[in-house]
Amino acid sequence: MWQAETERFAAVMLEQGFEPADTLYVLHRDIKTPIKSSFLPPWVSITRAKGYSYSDLEKIDHRCFEPFWRQDPLMMEDARTSTPRASLKLAIDTRGSENTLVGFSLFGLGSHAAYLQRLAVDPDIWGNGIGSELVRRGLNWARRWRAQAVSVNTQSSNQRALRLYQKLGFVLQPEMLWILKKSCTN
Ligand SMILES: CC(C)(COP(=O)(O)OP(=O)(O)OC[C@H]1O[C@@H](n2cnc3c(N)ncnc32)[C@H](O)[C@@H]1OP(=O)(O)O)[C@@H](O)C(=O)NCCC(=O)NCCS
Repeated sequence: MWQAETERFAAVMLEQGFEPADTLYVLHRDIKTPIKSSFLPPWVSITRAKGYSYSDLEKIDHRCFEPFWRQDPLMMEDARTSTPRASLKLAIDTRGSENTLVGFSLFGLGSHAAYLQRLAVDPDIWGNGIGSELVRRGLNWARRWRAQAVSVNTQSSNQRALRLYQKLGFVLQPEMLWILKKSCTN
């Protein structure tokens, strides 16, 4: 897999035998933009990652992403440790006798900027404000750590995520990312 940051570079990689896999939007958010409050149903609680494993997260992840974009526990750990500091937040459905994991977000923090690395909510309960609240909590975390800006990439076909990010103050950037792939067996 290869990520090209300009169309021209993507064209060069296509000449080298890569195939287009996807295009991503890039969104930035100034940390000073006020964080809008969001409604969360009383049966959902947002907690730090305690008592759940990456395998639990993987189940949600696989229901949310098509195969090309799915992450396994190893990839999740790589993402969590790719920045000096990270915040993994979980959404828990507290209605049943056993608390059920229904979503998670992973934010990373570099020297000045934070990144929303992963966001996933169980498709059965989309539209309840859980995704918004997970992002809101991550933004508050980034602000506490004095990040100046927060970035996120999302598939250009993912209108749902795009609207969520824009609603929470992220601004769509003019540049795009081109994701290219090439089989290693060729
Ligand atoms: C994106 C995702 C996390 C949103 O989770 P959610 O719990 O449904 O989010 P919310 O209920 O807070 O909805 C947030 C916003 O999404 C947008 N939205 C909701 N339903 C929508 C629809 N049918 N079409 C377009 N946008 C929609 C709205 O802007 C909504 O805000 P509003 O209800 O105030 O209008 C969830 O759909 C998901 O896990 N998708 C698959 C994984 C993914 O795309 N992750 C992000 C990759 S970068």
